[in-house]
Formats: sequence, structure tokens, C-alpha cells
Amino acid sequence: MQQISFYQEVFLNYLETFKVQKEPANLYNPINYILSLGGKRLRPVLTLMTSDIFSGDHQKALDAALSIEVFHNFSLIHDDIMDDAPLRRGNETVHEKWDINTGILSGDAMLILAYQLFENYESEIFKDLAKLFSKTALEVCEGQQYDIDFETRDDVTIAEYLKMIEYKTAVLIGAAMKMGAIVAQASKEDQDRIYDFGKNLGVAFQLQDDYLDAFGDPKTFGKQVGGDIIENKKTYLYLKGLEMASSDSRNQLQGFYSAKTNDAGEKIEAVKTIFADSGSADATKLAIKEYTEKAFSMLDNLDISADKKQLLRAFGEQLMNRTV
Ligand code: IPE
Ligand code: IPE
Ligand code: MG
Ligand code: MG
Ligand code: MG
Repeated sequence: MQQISFYQEVFLNYLETFKVQKEPANLYNPINYILSLGGKRLRPVLTLMTSDIFSGDHQKALDAALSIEVFHNFSLIHDDIMDDAPLRRGNETVHEKWDINTGILSGDAMLILAYQLFENYESEIFKDLAKLFSKTALEVCEGQQYDIDFETRDDVTIAEYLKMIEYKTAVLIGAAMKMGAIVAQASKEDQDRIYDFGKNLGVAFQLQDDYLDAFGDPKTFGKQVGGDIIENKKTYLYLKGLEMASSDSRNQLQGFYSAKTNDAGEKIEAVKTIFADSGSADATKLAIKEYTEKAFSMLDNLDISADKKQLLRAFGEQLMNRTV
């Protein structure tokens, strides 16, 4: 077993071999562009780490790890179109740098490339990977549709929000780990346990993403700070804000989210003040901690050594304390 940075480096080296200069350039250049922008690479690291934990071999999980990262980057290209986002990892989004049609097609090609990578596995493992991947990818679509539907709804509940983020984000993190377990030929029970660990960590991860979208540092965050507020996203911050704010602030908050405004700067500042003063920002931080702890508690039932559990905990703690 190795440190997190080891898996990161191994993955980045493998990623280099995936990039090819092919025609038509307007299909493949955006793919290389988004994959070269960096990012935390947390999903492929989890795949490699999980495979290593269950079998002592991370190498055989490289194609599964690459598949997950290619899928994730595909989902980001389409997500940025849907969210009208100008910035990704501190650079122009694909649809800004090229155009929307390019983003759609390069994204589609990436989804296919992600599937194709499973062809490098023998049939039993191929089947398990493809099955999990299809189920997960469809759930991500469902989560993404709920996310968009919620923008124009004013009766979204916290339970609905939690389901939405489970689908758009958490299941992919669970699947990244389960794929490592599948490649490692871990028992079905262990595959399911590590999936549940990843899924709960994924819920914490998306809560943190929402928190940083409002309160992150624009110099380091890499995305447009306040993007969710501009788009009227019904995040935990917003829903808890409605619950916890005074009636004046609640009306103000609902007023801000009832339309799109041209003066985004003023809206962002006012909404952030309500998030902070109502206690919803602190409530969000608490929820992040609770879901991370819930994930950790799932490690108890796993039959792996204490130092392996410790590595997974360290990973979760790093995620909880991130600023990007
Ligand atoms: C962004 O994912 C999309 C979400 C699910 C929140 P990451 O925060 O993992 O993005 P990168 O890959 O590190 O840029
Ligand atoms: C993205 O959620 C989830 C997927 C890409 C499937 P967000 O819209 O919050 O992700 P960011 O903040 O743009 O990275
Ligand atoms: Mg987005
Ligand atoms: Mg989105
Ligand atoms: Mg976000």
C-alpha cells in the first residue's frame, strides 16, 4: 500500500498515454484540453487505491481508473453548458473556448471512450464493470435533470436535495471505489461496503462543493464563485437558509431566487450574508462532517487491516478540509 500522492502520480503518467492527436482536431482537441486542465483526480485515485487495498495490485485498475476520470470530465463539459459556467479549473470552459456544439460532441465522444476502456478486461470483469457503469451513468443523468428542474421550483425539500446530489455526484464516487474492488475480485459484500463508503463520502463531497461555490476563494477555487447563486441552485445552503433565517431574510432570499438578475454581484453578496447570518453556512459545515463520519463508520464492517482503513480515513479528511 502507498500514499495518496503515489496513486496520483501513477495515474497522471497513465493519463498521458491516453491523449492522442487525431483528426478531426475539433473533436479531439477539447478532450485533451479538459483532461490537461488538472483537477484533483480523486475518483481515479480511489479506484487504484481500492484495487490495491483488496488485491495488493493497483496496476490492473488503471483502465478502470482512466474510464472513471474520462467519464467525469465528459460530465463536466456538459455540466458547464447546463450551468452556463465560464470557468473550470481556472481556465475557460470548453463551450466558451470553442462553442456549445463542440462541447456536446466532444463530451459524447468521451462517454464512448470511457466505455471502450473496459474492453481491456476479460469477460467476467468487463461485464461487472460495464453493468455498474451503465447504472451509475444513468443515475448521474437523473441527478443532473433534478438539479436543473430544481432551479425553477420553489418547493424543493432537503430530502429531495440529498437524493439529487446522491445521484449527480455521490454514486460516481461509490462506483469509482467499487470498480477498484471488482478489478481486485473482492467479495460481493466488500464491493457493496466500499460502494456505500464512497457514496456517503460523495454526499459530503457535494455538500462541500456547494459550500465552496459560495464561500470559496476566487483566487484559488478555479470556478466562478457564486455560480450556484446566479443560477438559483437549490443547495443545502439555500434550503437551510430558508429554514433558519428570520422571516424578513427568508422573503428576501426567496425574492432573489425567483428570477435571474443582471446585477449578479449584489445578489451574491446579499445571499451570502443571509447564508452566514442565518446559521445555514455553519449547518452545512456540520452536515459535511456528519456525512464524512457516516462514511467512516462504514469502514468498521470491512475486513481490511487498520492501516488500510487509516488511509481511507485520511483521504476523507483531506476532502473535508479542501479549499478547491
Ligand atoms: C466537480 O468535481 C464536480 C462535482 C461533482 C462537484 P471535482 O471537484 O472532483 O472536479 P475536479 O476534477 O477536481 O476538477
Ligand atoms: C456537478 O455538480 C455534477 C456533475 C458534473 C455530474 P456541479 O454543477 O455542482 O459541479 P461544478 O460545481 O460545476 O463542478
Ligand atoms: Mg456546475
Ligand atoms: Mg451542475
Ligand atoms: Mg458545484
